[in-house]
Amino acid sequence: MLQRFAKAVFGNANAKYLRGLQSKVEAINALEAEYEALTDSALKEKTTAFKQRFEDGETLDDLLVEAFASAREAGKRALGMRMFDVQLIGAMVLHEGRIAEMKTGEGKTLTATAAAYLNALPGKGVHIITVNEYLVQRDSADMGKLYKALGLTTGYVTAGMGLDRGVLTPAEVDNAKRRGYGADVTYSIAAEVGFDHLRDQMKPNRAEMVQRGFNFVIVDEADSILIDEARTPLVMSGPAVDVSNVFRATDLIAQELSEDAYTIDEKTRNIQLTEEGVPELEVILRKRQLLGEDSGLYQPENVGLLHNIMASLRAQRLFHRDQHYMVQDGEIVLINELTGRAAPGRRMGDGAHQALEAKEGLTIKPESSTIATITYQNFFRQYDKIAGMTGTALTEAAEFEAIYGMYVAEVPTNQPMIREDNDDIIYRFGEQKILAIIDDVKEAHVKGQPVLLGTPTVESSEMYSAAFTAQGIEHNVLSARQHEREALTIAQAGAPGAITIATSMAGRGTDIQLGGNYDFALAEATKGVRDPAENDRIAEKLKAEIAAARQKVIDAGGLYVLGTERGESRRVDNQLRGRSGRQGDPGKSRFYVSLEDDLMRIFGQGLDTWLKRFGIGDDEAIEHEWITNAIAKAQERREGYNFDIRKQLIRYDDVLNDQRQAYADLRDELLDEEDLTEKLEDMREKATEDLVARYIPPSSYPSQWDIEGLESAASAFVPAGLPIKEWSTEDDVDDDVIIDRVLEAFDKHMAAKAAQIGPETMRAAESQITLRVLDQLWREHIQNMMRLREGVSLRAFGQRDPLAEYRRDGFEMFDGMLERYRNSVVVVLANLEVRAPEPEPAAPPSPSPAAPAPVGSGGGGAFPGAAPVQLTDEQMKNTKRNDPCPCGSGKKFKYCHGRA
Ligand SMILES: Nc1ncnc2c1ncn2[C@@H]1O[C@H](COP(=O)(O)OP(=O)(O)OP(=O)(O)O)[C@@H](O)[C@H]1O
Ligand SMILES: [Mg+2]
Repeated sequence: MLQRFAKAVFGNANAKYLRGLQSKVEAINALEAEYEALTDSALKEKTTAFKQRFEDGETLDDLLVEAFASAREAGKRALGMRMFDVQLIGAMVLHEGRIAEMKTGEGKTLTATAAAYLNALPGKGVHIITVNEYLVQRDSADMGKLYKALGLTTGYVTAGMGLDRGVLTPAEVDNAKRRGYGADVTYSIAAEVGFDHLRDQMKPNRAEMVQRGFNFVIVDEADSILIDEARTPLVMSGPAVDVSNVFRATDLIAQELSEDAYTIDEKTRNIQLTEEGVPELEVILRKRQLLGEDSGLYQPENVGLLHNIMASLRAQRLFHRDQHYMVQDGEIVLINELTGRAAPGRRMGDGAHQALEAKEGLTIKPESSTIATITYQNFFRQYDKIAGMTGTALTEAAEFEAIYGMYVAEVPTNQPMIREDNDDIIYRFGEQKILAIIDDVKEAHVKGQPVLLGTPTVESSEMYSAAFTAQGIEHNVLSARQHEREALTIAQAGAPGAITIATSMAGRGTDIQLGGNYDFALAEATKGVRDPAENDRIAEKLKAEIAAARQKVIDAGGLYVLGTERGESRRVDNQLRGRSGRQGDPGKSRFYVSLEDDLMRIFGQGLDTWLKRFGIGDDEAIEHEWITNAIAKAQERREGYNFDIRKQLIRYDDVLNDQRQAYADLRDELLDEEDLTEKLEDMREKATEDLVARYIPPSSYPSQWDIEGLESAASAFVPAGLPIKEWSTEDDVDDDVIIDRVLEAFDKHMAAKAAQIGPETMRAAESQITLRVLDQLWREHIQNMMRLREGVSLRAFGQRDPLAEYRRDGFEMFDGMLERYRNSVVVVLANLEVRAPEPEPAAPPSPSPAAPAPVGSGGGGAFPGAAPVQLTDEQMKNTKRNDPCPCGSGKKFKYCHGRA
């Protein structure tokens, strides 16, 4: 009831929103004749003119109508496709930073170009993110023609980039990427853009970075990337350590634990030790001498051990072979549960992967430590504007809004949708369901109707495949194991009588055309054909064949999408349904369900009672709207769970993200600042204050002071040593006085050091060392934060809120890191030794603008403009270090005449 109400309200709001865009569509249509008359070069010149107008102060909104008219015209010329009105609407939705829900086959690829073109005019680049590298290459090549006709450049970025062109060194790969990102419009996949960002964050200077900021991004299949993929953060790892012994041991220990020692929660995929489990485990560990007699499992020094044991336990009890992972060539290959795709090369972090390797008796790879990590949510939020498009977004509208602040707009289809969506059929037992599915598929196959059979897992795909093979029925399987051929296979899934078995997302983005895909078939059929006439003949023949096949399929009812199970969310199921009925094609869809399906077992409580009440026998099925609704309810519950998990992930990541931001800002400052003198003075001051506070606690009695400790510690700053003991015996000497004197000596020491080493070498050393120390500490900090996060979830036994603990302790740790950073930097610089440089060959004339002449470093007047004024002794004595300098330079005293 509520839902229907929401739909009515939303429906109205959506209709109203679309009406608002309609007037612009009419304006674009009105320009069509005029733009059609332009020569090719005049069309290109439009771009130059738009750019100029933007420079002159017009907004992108002002330019939208004309720019879209240009883009449509370019599409006609370069691709032979005229953007439909609904595509223009979709592009406006994208331009407004929303999610455009456009059904499968509506032409989202082309839609994106108009929004990308408009938003590329300011010259800051536009990224278009698709789901796999195949689509990156396809779309950048195809749509590149359109951008070219408009005078814009197109680039792409992939992981294997450059390899195809024989470019091999990392620097050359980076060059290729830099070109890719330097283009007006750049196609890539989310993981690559994310990792490039993380890598850039570690580069020692801007010139080595490959990206140039985050202006506007259009995310294709936005639900998949912004929601599903977003559950796993991007993690970049550092050098690895051998942990094979550790995980062999924890694997055995986990096996030894009795079933009473832990509880398994399938819903949250979580394992926890029970109250009895803790002492049981402690006994096992003591027996193996891994735990001292007087040490307990939850003591801080054992957190690592406990973590590894839990990883082994999870590997044994929660990870099922061929459902969550497969073993291929002696390696664990993870399977994305949602898409059923293998993710070769993807490793779970933090010991989870090693635990699986130990479980399967494989070689245990060294564990590498995390050195950088970011969630997709926080990565994408860096863009000034995000837009998304997908066939299925409405069911997740609330999440898009909550997390990304993006509204979903439902763009109408170009042709009315006539697919027939049937109610679910439910069986009590899995076996009956499978038999019924096979019969149903055979029936369609016999009459020439193509079937797309959607399964939840690779395992299930293989089971159906084996059943068809046993009956001698030809079919294709789209699974993780054949992904190279995925696009080709799915493209032909609309051929008469074709049977294609696929996991839920396999082949997303490839068009299923009834009768078969002409372009793909042509490419196959003309492979190796050199003679153009021969080529044409094949093309003609193929065209006729496909037209006939198309008619045959239409007569048989179009593509039949059959779901063998309800999936993780309604959206994933809708995505599957959406493969059928594109562009007004006929089609049909149906889901089969049994009470033994995972979803029903865990989330479908009460349905069994219903079925009994209906008097359904063991081998009977029921098909009813009520059942369909009840199942949808179960799915909603599951969606809610998953949303909660993602929200939780973000809450935790937000803590780290604030710190990441602070770190990035600090780093940017270091990269941009040519002269770190002032920064370092600040750092010395803070480091000195920290140091003194450690030995002379604030507002303490002299009897509590540890002057000897301070004296010895201060020699890290001033290696020659300081008479702090003497000072402390003087009258009126308190911690402030000591800070001032240490600092004064410290600054003097550094000035002498700079003079000895030479100001230029000193500058260079300063910027290298600050950056290196910062990066190093940040990496350690990330490690610590991950441990902390795990620690707080273990602590949650009590009444405390783990997130609050994480936030508080994390903040303290970050503060501590900054303190260590300041301290390390000033100490390293204080003790810097520079060997006489090798005589360098005469430097070639530098093409870069000449560096400003070094400022003379005489006395207190190191700052230009400050030197001529002399201060009286009185002034020198009475001015506080943080006061403005009496000389009128506008600087603080400590940076001006107060120096040295
Ligand atoms: N305006 C147009 N005129 C003619 N053909 C078009 C037009 N727009 C798109 N097409 C064609 O429609 C087909 C589907 O396009 P596309 O793959 O972009 O759809 P999609 O919305 O991205 O679908 P999916 O949800 O499967 O990714 C393609 O073959 C494309 O060339
Ligand atoms: Mg697409």
